[in-house]
Amino acid sequence: MMNNRGTWGSNIGFLFAAVGSAIGFGTVWAFPYKMGKYGGFTFLAIYLVFAAAVGISLLICELAIGRKTGKGPIGAYSELSKKYPFTGVFAVLASYFIMIMYASLGGYCLEYVIINIKSFFTPLNLSGDEVFTQVTKNTDTSIIYTIIFVFINYLIVKGGIQKGIEKFSIVAIPMLFISLIIVICVSLCAKGASEGLKFMFLPDYGRLKGYITEDISIFQTISAAGSQLFFSLSIGMGATIAYGSYLNKKENLIKNAVVITLADTLASVMSGLAVIPAAVATGIRGGLSPDKISLGGPKLLFVSLQEVFIQSGKFGSVLGVIFFVLILIAAISSAVSLIEVIMSYFIDRAYYCGKSINRSKTAFWVCISVLVFGIFTTIDAFGTGGINIFGRSYIDLLSLISEAILMPVGAYLMTVIVTDELKTDGICDEISKGAKIGKRFKNLFYISMKFFVPVVIGLVIFGAFFG
Ligand code: PHE
Repeated sequence: MMNNRGTWGSNIGFLFAAVGSAIGFGTVWAFPYKMGKYGGFTFLAIYLVFAAAVGISLLICELAIGRKTGKGPIGAYSELSKKYPFTGVFAVLASYFIMIMYASLGGYCLEYVIINIKSFFTPLNLSGDEVFTQVTKNTDTSIIYTIIFVFINYLIVKGGIQKGIEKFSIVAIPMLFISLIIVICVSLCAKGASEGLKFMFLPDYGRLKGYITEDISIFQTISAAGSQLFFSLSIGMGATIAYGSYLNKKENLIKNAVVITLADTLASVMSGLAVIPAAVATGIRGGLSPDKISLGGPKLLFVSLQEVFIQSGKFGSVLGVIFFVLILIAAISSAVSLIEVIMSYFIDRAYYCGKSINRSKTAFWVCISVLVFGIFTTIDAFGTGGINIFGRSYIDLLSLISEAILMPVGAYLMTVIVTDELKTDGICDEISKGAKIGKRFKNLFYISMKFFVPVVIGLVIFGAFFG
């Protein structure tokens, strides 16, 4: 039977989609704050070292696994490994849990787009904090936005690889970068913006000036940079395997991995420039002491930045719309890759059973299964809804399970499979199909997968539980 899983129309289309998967909430929201909290340039330097030492090789490896087997993570690992054929299950579950969080967060972004459009016509007369309280209290409305957000993703995923995900990414990702540049220009022009730049880039500035109240050890900085790298590059969650499985054999996986890493890192730093200076400047102007300016957590986006838009009147409304649309694009382009990971399992299973798949129907049921739990995340409204499991808020628990357990364990098993079972040769053969590689590359790749990656994974797990 013909395998009609789908393929990318072009390498550039694939790159836009893969960069879109990488740029998500982790990039535009978590990175800027983490950079400020964990030591500015020190954090960035460690992040870049990790990106070079483990990020690129992990991306190459996932792309090769996907392309070699032509399957999503579950099918791919069960084909490649005798000892750990179940490894893909970790990736699919991690994607599922993250998608549940994305459903809710994406819904909030959509709601904020609408709030800012409305505020253009009727001024809000509320502070950023009051808007946030109102939104988190009105759960019914937020649930509707969660549903709409998932529905948008459904429409894209059901369109298929070329006509859905690729078509969307080719238009959306350039738009995202243009919007980022617009917001950076405005953010940097605000009076007091330099204070935000110092927070982001000067080591320890955030703590010395009282934006950050806790003491941060170098160990915490290292483990935070490691976990940020994994999450931001969409590593260990099967997304890159799934996207790689639709890639043509002649494409150069090494170049592609480098481009994805560079674009995502650029977007991370650009997001910092767009977000932090404006939030700090507006906080200072509003007479807030540094420890009262929220630069992390949901409040950075939904309180501090909303305050920036409110204070700038009609211009602020326009800026608010641009900004939340930008985040929405980042959210959708990541969410579709998370959904595609789950889709790939059903596609591969159908193919294995000799059937062909009804993509729309499968996408519909995958989205419904995400919504069932996504709605609870919205009801919990960033922990304000009081759903507590094992003493943790619902969203905290989801992120702990996916980022601190499933993702690192899955990624570790991948390194064992690749270095011990396949002796890296099986993977290097695949890489060599579109790129010239010599002994030096093979050795570096082996060292990275065998030694560097497990160390970084260990740091990530340790940091998540004891950091
Ligand atoms: N990389 C995305 C982010 O930065 C998250 C993500 C992880 C997306 C895994 C897809 C797969 O937010």
